[in-house]
Amino acid sequence: MGFDLADYVGRVQPVTVDDLDFGSFRDRPLDPEALRCLRYMHDVENHTVCYLRDLLVTRAHREPEITTFLTLWNFEEFWHGEAIASVLRAHGELAGIDRVAPMRRSLGRKDRAEPLLMWLASTVAPDFVAVHMTWGAINEWSTQAAYARLGARAKHPVLSELLRRLMRQEGRHIDFYSSEAARRLARSRAAQRLTRFALKKLWTPVGAGVMPASEVRFLIRYLFADEGRASAQRIDRCVDRLPGLEGLGLADRALRSYGSF
Ligand SMILES: [Fe+2]
Ligand SMILES: [Fe+2]
Repeated sequence: MGFDLADYVGRVQPVTVDDLDFGSFRDRPLDPEALRCLRYMHDVENHTVCYLRDLLVTRAHREPEITTFLTLWNFEEFWHGEAIASVLRAHGELAGIDRVAPMRRSLGRKDRAEPLLMWLASTVAPDFVAVHMTWGAINEWSTQAAYARLGARAKHPVLSELLRRLMRQEGRHIDFYSSEAARRLARSRAAQRLTRFALKKLWTPVGAGVMPASEVRFLIRYLFADEGRASAQRIDRCVDRLPGLEGLGLADRALRSYGSF
């Protein structure tokens, strides 16, 4: 694996969309299911800055390699949200700040407590950064898989091209998180135990902490049930390859709890 941070710093840029024909959605709109997925993806990409808030109160902020990556990761994810917003707007829907503002206002006590909980966890657990890196890797694998599945289901050439570009950037996020996770897990049995425990007890699919359960269920069924099952299994195989994390079956568990009809 391995990740060249200097190379990443030199490459970071907003995902290119200027050459995409968003007007094509007027003649050939996406079906309601694909749009429903995109609303979810838009909201979750736009929530990245809130995850960043929660991460920066932890020990991760002491490591400049991590904060450098997080700064640029947050920048790229912001532009992912903007790119998806352009698709929603092309369908006459609210997007961007107009859509994010009410969602942000509706976040409750759990959201307000999150920085405190993360700070506490990081203070008592020296291996907390390994959990965070592993969590990030799993969420990036899941996001990339979801974009691939949406492209396959929606079958719209402009959306497919946009999703391919997003997936390329998610691939770089995967490289960072998974290489950091592998390195930190490989050197510490305690980090492996803590990470296994946290994932087993606390991991939920990307966005499940902030999106309504009905939307999480819909997204998982639409993208990962039936012929999408192989994609979910691939996520579990990626987790299995991290030191000490074999056999967790997180994607399989999510499919069983959210994906059954
Ligand atoms: Fe993204
Ligand atoms: Fe990402």
